[in-house]
Amino acid sequence: MTEAAHPPEDLVRAVRAAGIRDERLLQAVRVTPRAAFLPAGHQAHAYHDVPIPIGHGQVTTQPSLSAMMIEGLDLSGDEHVLEIGTGLGFQTALLARLAAGVVTIERWPDIAHQARSNLARQGIRNVELRVGDGSGGVPDRAPYDAVIVSAAFPEVPAPLAEQLRLGGSLVQPIGPGGQEQVVSFLRTPTGLERRRLLTPAHFVRLHGRYGFPS
Ligand SMILES: C[S@@+](CC[C@H](N)C(=O)[O-])C[C@H]1O[C@@H](n2cnc3c(N)ncnc32)[C@H](O)[C@@H]1O
Repeated sequence: MTEAAHPPEDLVRAVRAAGIRDERLLQAVRVTPRAAFLPAGHQAHAYHDVPIPIGHGQVTTQPSLSAMMIEGLDLSGDEHVLEIGTGLGFQTALLARLAAGVVTIERWPDIAHQARSNLARQGIRNVELRVGDGSGGVPDRAPYDAVIVSAAFPEVPAPLAEQLRLGGSLVQPIGPGGQEQVVSFLRTPTGLERRRLLTPAHFVRLHGRYGFPS
């Protein structure tokens, strides 16, 4: 099959067009079959750079946006990462290829169940998937080298900042849900320091004890 006819290459092109130059990240997109992380009936759009509905009013993150957020974590390969909002696991799979291990948490049990079997079918073993409210993080596995929040809230929930080690990175869409600024933060001795704006974006809301009421 030529490169042009290899469907994941369409996503690699979209990710490059979004400004991503990290070859490890581009390779992770190339070898992760997005079709394996979508609900039945959506395979035709698997390699289009678009969000896909996954039930409960949720959508997958657009692949180029996931890539921008992951790049904002500055992963080198040996990190212990926390992801809030697993969805069906495509972004989790990318993280699993780029870090030593991933703890991920999803609030909807049926979505989490699908993600678990999607990841297992791809042979991805360095992911620990929890079901529950991730707005308070996963304290029993902290500290984390990096935290990625896949849902929007106007501020970073305090427990997530507390569970990030000094010098670690956190990426979150900051906003009310529907119109956000995706920001990369650095954990300093005095708390989180805003490092850079990654992109404007539209996200679903972070619900839970330290997020919007459920
Ligand atoms: C944009 S979607 C899916 C993102 C996913 N990482 C992907 O690659 O497609 C955000 C997810 O966050 C989940 N979510 C929202 N609030 C949450 C919370 N407090 N704890 C865990 N998951 C949450 C939603 O149920 C939804 O599946």
